[in-house]
Amino acid sequence: MQDKKELTITTKSGSIVCLMLFRYSKFAPAYFVGTLFSWLQRKGFKILSKRRNHNDAEMLTETYSIAVHHIMIADKYRVDAYQNAINKAVTGKNVLDIGTGPYAFLAQMAVVANAKYTTGVEASRESYNAAIAQLNPAYLSKITIDHCYSTNKISPEENSKYDLLIHEIIGCIGSDEGSLPVVKDAKERLLTKNAQIIPHSFSTHIISVSPLQSLTLFESILSRMYMDHESIFDTEIKATGMYDVFNFPIQNAISDPNVFETFNFNSDFDLIQKNSHIFKIKKQSTDEPILFDGFVLFLELVVDEQNIINSYLQKTNWNVIYIKLLEVPREMQDGEEIHVKCEIDASNIDTKYSLTVTFSEGTILSHTWNGSNPKAIGKI
Ligand SMILES: C[S@@+](CC[C@H](N)C(=O)[O-])C[C@H]1O[C@@H](n2cnc3c(N)ncnc32)[C@H](O)[C@@H]1O
Repeated sequence: MQDKKELTITTKSGSIVCLMLFRYSKFAPAYFVGTLFSWLQRKGFKILSKRRNHNDAEMLTETYSIAVHHIMIADKYRVDAYQNAINKAVTGKNVLDIGTGPYAFLAQMAVVANAKYTTGVEASRESYNAAIAQLNPAYLSKITIDHCYSTNKISPEENSKYDLLIHEIIGCIGSDEGSLPVVKDAKERLLTKNAQIIPHSFSTHIISVSPLQSLTLFESILSRMYMDHESIFDTEIKATGMYDVFNFPIQNAISDPNVFETFNFNSDFDLIQKNSHIFKIKKQSTDEPILFDGFVLFLELVVDEQNIINSYLQKTNWNVIYIKLLEVPREMQDGEEIHVKCEIDASNIDTKYSLTVTFSEGTILSHTWNGSNPKAIGKI
């Protein structure tokens, strides 16, 4: 029975993808680039780039390339989790999809799963045009897509507010694509009082790590091809700063994880959050010295209670963020403590983050940054 259900779900999302490709075949090169990247990532190659800071979140939506959308569509963990959650929640609902992307991927899932009516909004002109061009004509009486930011959408009359919101404006650090102020605005103006939201909630976890080993030449070539990696001969990860990394080795963790940020879209949340933790360094199984040079942040996305995605343990389209604080790693003792304060300020779309780290002898390090932008970190 379970197998049959899974088969039906896979067939439905497979046919949505085929239909999209058929109707929008000029995106075949982007499909090839995106699908090849997902395959290489699943094979376990490390692919990375150093993150450049930026401060214009509005640019985010205009720079989401079609190839990036293909990487997201090729992410089976993401597609299956959303498909399962949407199938369970959508029947008879008046649905709002914030950020349809070029294929109205989630909005069309909602139509297929028997939503009463689905309204999508998409801020990027290119993605909006693509979404309109490839919409299945059989769905046209059940779906509308508007070209606007959700925050600019006019509030509907009280009796036509949306009772289900679906979105996937979730970053590698959960909050860093603006989801918190956007969802808060939707709850205040666009949704009914008891509306359900998919995804349900997310946490970004933080874990202390030992230095990332060198890349192989092939990984360095991949990082140059796909991300903003400077040179194919730059195989050593020496400079401090933030790196977007696919396939960061799990064995480099030298403590248990803690919560960097945690937000539940289905309850009231504040846009500013502060968390403090003590990390206890754990001896590795080998006799090698324990080296520390920074932290990894990874996403746990609760799409619904049965469908949870973890970007450190699963090979998803969300990479982890490696914050390299020290150029020369620091030798740590088994059981030594590191005190860490995390601050998130999402009171405007350019979310601000800070990390303050205090070692046992009193040395303090800090790192601050803004929300992400796919084009600022990668080339795809
Ligand atoms: C990660 S993509 C997800 C696309 C699609 N929903 C999917 O799941 O494949 C996010 C999309 O949301 C759009 N977006 C982000 N914030 C938005 C907002 N506040 N209003 C409208 N579109 C937004 C971006 O332009 C981008 O196309």
